[in-house]
Amino acid sequence: MKTGEDVLLLKSVGEIASENPEKIGVFKKYGVDFCCGGSKTLQDVCEESGIDRILIVDELKNYSAAENDDNYSLSKKAKDWDVNFLIDYIVNIHHTFLRVHIPEAEDYVEKIANVHGKGHPELLKIRGLFNKMSQAMFLHLDKEEKGLLTDIKAGKTENIKQEIEDALYYHEYVGHILKEMLFLSSGYSVPKDACASYKHAYELLKNISDDIMIHVHMENNILFKKI
Ligand SMILES: [Fe+2]
Ligand SMILES: [Fe+2]
Repeated sequence: MKTGEDVLLLKSVGEIASENPEKIGVFKKYGVDFCCGGSKTLQDVCEESGIDRILIVDELKNYSAAENDDNYSLSKKAKDWDVNFLIDYIVNIHHTFLRVHIPEAEDYVEKIANVHGKGHPELLKIRGLFNKMSQAMFLHLDKEEKGLLTDIKAGKTENIKQEIEDALYYHEYVGHILKEMLFLSSGYSVPKDACASYKHAYELLKNISDDIMIHVHMENNILFKKI
């Protein structure tokens, strides 16, 4: 194995994603959890998940994301951003995204679960999981904005350690739900008999899942590392 490959394997996946966000596409392809599980080294992730490390290292070295992928390009420089700007970005872009799109997705998931739940019972489970995550998500966004993120901006340090612990715990919880939903929906691939609402619901869920992964990555692996 080449020296450069060894260095990459010893880095944490969160670090790799922070330094080279355009390579997040490779992590997504291999199902590597770079947000909640960002502290694990690439080597450990490969061993735990049975990923061929030579193959993934090679892809990481040669991958460049499509130029029009906003999530990657926008998070590209985030590790160099000032803490206050980073917080404003997370709140204005990612928190707003969830506040707008979660209610829309809830309506569509409810609709397709009612109409297609008999033929596709996984939709009933997805509905239950998504509603559970949504409820907790809105509480979490409020808690971060009124507590942790306000305290960081104000330089109040007394509660920050606990507030970060709470956020990490919640991110982990959401990560488990997203993984389960991804599994139940076979990666949000729609069945042949899917109607337009079914397709739109899955598209919304996939977009929400992708956005949460970048959002949690920015908090766990970039923002909290600056505190
Ligand atoms: Fe957040
Ligand atoms: Fe968060």
